[in-house]
Amino acid sequence: MRRNPARHRRPSPAATASGDPLVRALDALGEFTPLDTVAGPLSRAVRRLPLGPLRDVLHGRWLGHPLHPALVQVPVGAWMSAAVLDVVPGAERGARTLVGLGVLSALPAAWSGWVDWAEQHEAQQRTGVVHAGANVLAIGLFAGSWAARGRGRTGLGRALTRAGLTSASLGAMIGGHLAYRQSAGANKAEPVPHLLEPRWYGMGPLDEYPAGEPVRRMLGEVPLLVVRMTEDEAYVLGDRCSHDSGPLSEGEVRDGCVECPWDGSLFRLSDGWNVHGPATAPQPSFEAGFDGDGSLRVRLPRAD
Ligand code: FES
Repeated sequence: MRRNPARHRRPSPAATASGDPLVRALDALGEFTPLDTVAGPLSRAVRRLPLGPLRDVLHGRWLGHPLHPALVQVPVGAWMSAAVLDVVPGAERGARTLVGLGVLSALPAAWSGWVDWAEQHEAQQRTGVVHAGANVLAIGLFAGSWAARGRGRTGLGRALTRAGLTSASLGAMIGGHLAYRQSAGANKAEPVPHLLEPRWYGMGPLDEYPAGEPVRRMLGEVPLLVVRMTEDEAYVLGDRCSHDSGPLSEGEVRDGCVECPWDGSLFRLSDGWNVHGPATAPQPSFEAGFDGDGSLRVRLPRAD
């Protein structure tokens, strides 16, 4: 899969971070380059796994947003419930069952996280590898808790459950930073319809658009991808990829789709649909119109 080296030279907001020490510490994870020795080989290994269509399932393309945050609710809920049962007399068996359920359900949750993480940029991957480390530790502690409870060592099992919850909470906090501060997994194309007026915009003469070639044009602050096919057929999408803002106008156009040059998401030109991930959201698609003087105009769908 092709990856754009320029993408990985982007300055991180952590370089100018200010605020609470906790936030600065979390920001610093994204700048901590020694983590690359783990993140680099691991992300390449995850991308090489022959997962086929399962990869898009794990990304959550069918759901319209990442699957990982939804799946993690099951182990977290099971483990929290086990901790509650630990203070209920006579509920040891139920607590052990919930600890075991949490460990089993953490496995698909972790896999969905790993495939998302492997397609993120370097700063996100550094934070993500610490997030994953805390959660792997938590899974190990809960597995130990389940085993200890099975051998009748209930006190040790409860202590390991509390330690697991502490580690899982740390992982959740780092995961929140990754999702909301570093915007991993968010739809980067979502703002486009909010930045434009609901009207037609002139896009200049058609002969500025070579047939079948991707062309980038600015509409105010919004970059667009224009692919003109004939004198009266053109496709217009938001140019910044919904996955991580990659420039679709630098991608390859084939079979009615455009491939993002950064991580290979495939978008249908006719309506922006994300045919293939890692993007979980489609591209904003524009309606194209043709004036009698041979020029192109565009507007958002249903913009009167
Ligand atoms: S930026 Fe990742 S697929 Fe486009």
